[in-house]
Amino acid sequence: MSQEIKRLAVFTSGGDAPGMNAAIRAVVRTATFHDLHIYGIRRGYDGMIQGQIKRLETSDVGNIIHRGGTVLKTARSKEFRTKEGRKMAYESLMANNIDALVGIGGNGTFTGLEIFSNEYDIPVMGIPGTIDNDLAGSDYTIGFDTAVNTAIEAVDKIRDTADSHNRLFFVEVMGRDAGFIALSTGIGSGAGSILIPEKGDNVDELINHLKIGVRRRKLFSLVIVAEGNPGGGAMEIAEKVKEKFDHYDTKVTIIGHLQRGGAPTGADRVLASRLGFGAVEGILNGQSKVMVGIKNGEITYTPLSESIKLPKEPKDDLLRMAEILAR
Ligand code: F6P
Repeated sequence: MSQEIKRLAVFTSGGDAPGMNAAIRAVVRTATFHDLHIYGIRRGYDGMIQGQIKRLETSDVGNIIHRGGTVLKTARSKEFRTKEGRKMAYESLMANNIDALVGIGGNGTFTGLEIFSNEYDIPVMGIPGTIDNDLAGSDYTIGFDTAVNTAIEAVDKIRDTADSHNRLFFVEVMGRDAGFIALSTGIGSGAGSILIPEKGDNVDELINHLKIGVRRRKLFSLVIVAEGNPGGGAMEIAEKVKEKFDHYDTKVTIIGHLQRGGAPTGADRVLASRLGFGAVEGILNGQSKVMVGIKNGEITYTPLSESIKLPKEPKDDLLRMAEILAR
């Protein structure tokens, strides 16, 4: 293992995700095991710029594995997008003699890490923490499983009222650019249709699908719409469907930020613990500018540039299966 790294800093950035605390805990405890001094940066890149950097001990991360959100707080920093902001951040790190950085977040966080590590000579490691699951290089990201479970629980409740009233419900789930939450929620809740950004405009196809359902005497229907669906979110889609097809009484539910909160599932706690552990051991083994992930059960390290840019498409066979099972 490299002898260079003595002081490691960890931060969370971008949208919070359930399981981030379990990852922070794993980073702190693995680093402590390896005799590193570990520091927590509050409020992501903004806190880095402002020097909000504090030594963490093993006891500081006790009793957090089960909590949603992030004890380090998070932010979407505009200042870090500027050269001056990044310079201030570097100066803060140097003032605390930080040798390496671990960032927990999604696309924006990793884009920042990549730029920063190209400008300044400091080893960096990303841990995928986003409910959207849209990073190449890990089968799952921290928070995705919890978000899907929350969404499914909500759709189960909507199903009861949809059934009682013979209604058509459009349920919008998060996913600005990706349909993973929508796809898993749709499959797991047995929804009739799933609209995701990766599949382009799909309103006509949806209307045809609904017509088939009506011919088969389906009395109610559930449509899961990803927030970033190109044909529009749940509100817009409901309007478009109503215009062309008024068979059902339609309703819209937007689950929104409910999906980002709450206690992480067991799967997210285990994933976060493995990734936090893998991040520290990876950086000590000389890995840098990479994202730690788990693929086919194994810890992997993928260049940050690839994790952000390579498209991680939802599997077509899952979409096909969802469609068949919804008939
Ligand atoms: O965390 C990712 C995400 O949940 C996206 O799906 C969503 O568009 C976005 O965050 C909303 O973020 P914010 O609450 O910070 O505006």
